[in-house]
Amino acid sequence: MKIVKTIAEMRFIRASLPEPLGFVPTLGYLHEGHLSLVRQARTDNASVVVSIFVNPTQFTPSDDLDRYPRDLEGDISLLCKEGVDAVFAPSVDEMYPPRFDSRVEVDKLTRRLEGASRPGHFAGVTMVVAKLFNIVQPARAYFGQKDAQQAIVIKKMVADLNMNLEVITLPTVRQQDGLAMSSRNSYLSADERQAALVLYRALMLEQGLWSQGDKDAEKLRNEMVKLIGKEPLATIDYISITDNETLEELKEVRPPALVSLAVKIG
Ligand code: PAF
Repeated sequence: MKIVKTIAEMRFIRASLPEPLGFVPTLGYLHEGHLSLVRQARTDNASVVVSIFVNPTQFTPSDDLDRYPRDLEGDISLLCKEGVDAVFAPSVDEMYPPRFDSRVEVDKLTRRLEGASRPGHFAGVTMVVAKLFNIVQPARAYFGQKDAQQAIVIKKMVADLNMNLEVITLPTVRQQDGLAMSSRNSYLSADERQAALVLYRALMLEQGLWSQGDKDAEKLRNEMVKLIGKEPLATIDYISITDNETLEELKEVRPPALVSLAVKIG
């Protein structure tokens, strides 16, 4: 497995990798969620590239850029075992040299949900993902459903800008008790980790009520608010039930719908 630090070297190595090439962009500090993307990329493609880059432009001033967990050595050893062909781990200067002056943005879709809570976040995501796609030139790129809005925004960018690749979204990987795997789970204390299970319980409650015939979005949202309200360590940022493509809020919940929530724990 090649460890690549520069764009020039990545382009050079990429030219000799067999087609089709699958690509998994990451911020590093890898867990089973990332590895499920890598394994699918391995199954679907003749070669696989993973990027590890803590992209500063997608962190808002109140985000956690400085303390975002990092473990490049650990990540490399995990990826080696998965048969990855190359890991692209550039520096910030390599990706954003002095006088870098461009933007890649998806408009309306990024004003909602996470985009409303973290203005500027998605502009950073689309910019770095567009750059990575240009550098790695994949046939397919893999993203987790955990970051549902991100996957929808990237699909829109790829369609609108006629990028020549397929974006594949794979299911959220959860721990046995239902907590979604996330690098940021490492911030949680034992009590907070326990409290965070309320997110999964809220989603399951919604799914259960919906399957029993409750289709009223406001009622379903209120039931989730009530459940999460019982958890003292939880503060709701938003709970949303939207169309899975336009991200417009639904009144009546019909597929394809997306239930997403952002809840602060501790
Ligand atoms: O989901 C992530 O890990 C990041 O947002 C991504 C897609 C790698 C862009 O930096």
